Amino acid sequence: MSFLSNTLSRVKPSPTIAMTAKTAELKAAGRDVIGLSAGEPDFDTPQNIKDAAAAAINAGKTKYTAPDGIPELKEAVCAKMKRDHGLEYTPAQVSVGTGGKQTLYNALMATLNDGDEVVIPAPYWVSYPDMVLLAGGTPVVAETSLQTNFKLTPDQLEEAITPKTKWFIFNSPSNPTGAGYSRDELKALTDVLMRHPHVWVMSDDMYEHLAYDGFEFCTPAEVEPALYDRTLTCNGVSKAYAMTGWRIGYAAGPVALIAAMRKIQSQSTSNPCSISQWAALEALNGTQDFLAPNNEVFKRRRNFVVDALNKIEGISCPKPEGAFYVYPSIAGLIGKTTPKGTVIEDDEAFANALLQEADVAVVFGAAFGLSPNFRVSYATSDDALKTACERIQAFCNSLQ
Ligand SMILES: Cc1ncc(COP(=O)(O)O)c(C=O)c1O
Repeated sequence: MSFLSNTLSRVKPSPTIAMTAKTAELKAAGRDVIGLSAGEPDFDTPQNIKDAAAAAINAGKTKYTAPDGIPELKEAVCAKMKRDHGLEYTPAQVSVGTGGKQTLYNALMATLNDGDEVVIPAPYWVSYPDMVLLAGGTPVVAETSLQTNFKLTPDQLEEAITPKTKWFIFNSPSNPTGAGYSRDELKALTDVLMRHPHVWVMSDDMYEHLAYDGFEFCTPAEVEPALYDRTLTCNGVSKAYAMTGWRIGYAAGPVALIAAMRKIQSQSTSNPCSISQWAALEALNGTQDFLAPNNEVFKRRRNFVVDALNKIEGISCPKPEGAFYVYPSIAGLIGKTTPKGTVIEDDEAFANALLQEADVAVVFGAAFGLSPNFRVSYATSDDALKTACERIQAFCNSLQ
C-alpha cells in the first residue's frame, strides 16, 4: 500500500507551474528560451504598496494576525465591494487568505462532501478541477467552443446542472482565454441559476481590473442581487497590483460560509502574512492610477499577439476582452510533422515541439480542458513577444 494518501492520487501537479519550471531549467542550461507560460505581470509592485509594507515592518506589524485577516483589510474589502459593485458586506462576511488560490480552496474544503458536483466551464484555470478533487468533490466540466469565444451558453449551464451540483465556478475575464462576459451574457447565466436554488456561485474575479476596449466588468451578485445569499465573490491583489509573490487573496460571502473557511485556515496556515496584508490594504485603499497605463500596455500587446498569430496559416485566435492571455486554436496544424520528425498529434505535442525546436514556451490546451489550443501569456516585454511570434510563425511554416 502506498504511504501517500488516496486523495493525492486523484490530482496532478499544476501544468502551468511545470512549464514555467521547464523554461527556467532550459534557460539555466544556456538556451535562449522565451517564456510565454507564466501567469504573472512583468510589472513591478507599485512603490506606494512597497512603502506600506516597509512601514508595517518598521512599525512592528510582524506578529500573528486574526486567522482570516486584519480588521483594517476586511474593512477595505467591504469598501471595495461597495465602491466597485454596489454590494454591502460586513467584515464578518470577508475572508482574507494566502492568495486567491487559498480562499478558493478553503471554500471548496468547507463545503464539498463525497459525490458533490462542481460545474466548471472549460477551458478552465488549471487548479479548479484538482482543488475540487482534493476537497472530495466531482468536477463536471462544461465545454465551451471557439464559436462562442469560449463563453458558456445558458443551455450548456442548464445541461451541466444536476441535483448533486453544489457550486458553479465562474471566471471572467478568464484564465486561460481572456474571455470576459458582458452584463447580458452573465445575466443569461444567472437566470439559469435562479431556476436551481440549490446551486451556489463561486465567482473568481481575479482579472477584474485587466479589461480593454471599454469592457465593463460585472460580477454575478451585482447582476442578479437575488443570488447574494448563495454567492462567494473571490478576488485578490496578485494580478492587477503585480503582487503575485505577496500572496494575498480575499472572498466575500455569507457569514456561515466565511466562518467555516476561517476554521480551516486557523487549523492550517493560521493567517496570511501580516506584512503582505498591510501592503494589500494600501493596494485597495491607495491610488489606482497605475491601472490605466498598465492596461494600455497590455492592450497593445494583446493586439500585437492576436494579429501576429492570426497571420499564421493553421492558427485561429479570437481577440479577448481581458486578462493577459490569448488561447489560439491549432486545429489547422494537427497531423503535420516538424522538421525534426515530430508529428503534431495534439496540442501537447505542439507545445513540446515548439519548446524543443523553436525555443518558445507556451502551455498546451489539454491542461485547461479544451483542445487543440495553446495559451499565450502576453505579460512579457514587447521585444520578447515580437521575437516569440516570429519564432512561432517560422515553426508553423516549417511544418509539413
Ligand atoms: C483565474 C485565477 N484565479 C485565481 C488565481 C490565484 O491567484 P493567487 O493565488 O496568486 O492570488 C489565479 C492565478 O493564476 C488565476 O489565474
